[in-house]
Amino acid sequence: MLAPLQNESKPWMAKENHLAGQTRDLAQEARDNPTKYVEWYQPTVKTLPKSTVEFFENYIGIKGEEAIKEHIYKIRDMAWTVLPYPCIGLFRFLDFSIHLSPDYARVVKRVQEGATLLDLGCCFGQDLRKLAYDAGPGAPTRNLIGTDLEPAFLQLGHELFADRDRFEATFIPGDVFADDFLTDYRGKVDIVYLGSFLHLFSEPQQRVVVKQLRRLLRPRAGSMVFGRNLGAGKGGPFRMESIGWDLYRHDPQTIADLFQSSYDEGEIDGGGAGGQPNTPWEVNSSLGRYGSANWDDDRRGWKGDETKQMIFTATRL
Ligand SMILES: C[S@@+](CC[C@H](N)C(=O)[O-])C[C@H]1O[C@@H](n2cnc3c(N)ncnc32)[C@H](O)[C@@H]1O
Repeated sequence: MLAPLQNESKPWMAKENHLAGQTRDLAQEARDNPTKYVEWYQPTVKTLPKSTVEFFENYIGIKGEEAIKEHIYKIRDMAWTVLPYPCIGLFRFLDFSIHLSPDYARVVKRVQEGATLLDLGCCFGQDLRKLAYDAGPGAPTRNLIGTDLEPAFLQLGHELFADRDRFEATFIPGDVFADDFLTDYRGKVDIVYLGSFLHLFSEPQQRVVVKQLRRLLRPRAGSMVFGRNLGAGKGGPFRMESIGWDLYRHDPQTIADLFQSSYDEGEIDGGGAGGQPNTPWEVNSSLGRYGSANWDDDRRGWKGDETKQMIFTATRL
């Protein structure tokens, strides 16, 4: 099994007083909880995008932006104590990034028609909720699966969206690097979503991820993996100095090479019955602005490092 994250570097340890001048007593908060004393813990969001307010009002029934914000802060702070990821500290989970894909309309249609979709590294499962919402009442949402290394995130997702008794998706804790990762789903998944996931891992680790996904995907044309991750004009390993994490940014060639390497590897698990025959991938990707409607841009020490957002789709031919 490969080591999942560089946890030992403890990037969330307090560094400097980045939070001076805020209206809350952050100095006190920092003394109470030193992990909040970092640049990528943003205490509040200035404004929620209209679409986010609309989603929370309609999906969980809390009315009004201020009430929604208070609810979000409460759950976000609980998640922060589990693992202080930038996507939690900076409210990136409110982006509902799945719909940014140019293939999203097609994905929604396939889900409405019964496709099985796995969100790997789903955190709160926000993108599965967005997908279910957009697929509309009556869509077979029991075919949605969310998995994450941290079981607490999956539980907090039910708190955030107040849907424990009504959301039919299946949530399963799991480590993508484990030999028995989602074995019950091998060969049964049509679509995999990877939101801000691949960049956490080195290139050899990402190859293992793609191999695991090949095991899960139905061995037929049209099975697909899509997602977003950190990108750059020239891809490769990248140290995000502001948070002290070693990450990986893709460019269009490196993401294509990643899936091509899985094709070059040939059949896995014996090919035929129970295994995975080899077929090539078609990979499309684009690089765009790295940002979020929810971010306080002044807080981002890493702006200007030429990081971009990559959106990609890899489809088996
Ligand atoms: C950066 S967050 C992205 C969350 C969400 N997909 C999004 O787009 O906001 C990465 C997620 O991957 C999960 N994760 C990290 N390593 C993992 C592993 N080895 N197996 C499964 N999930 C993992 C983390 O717990 C975290 O929730």
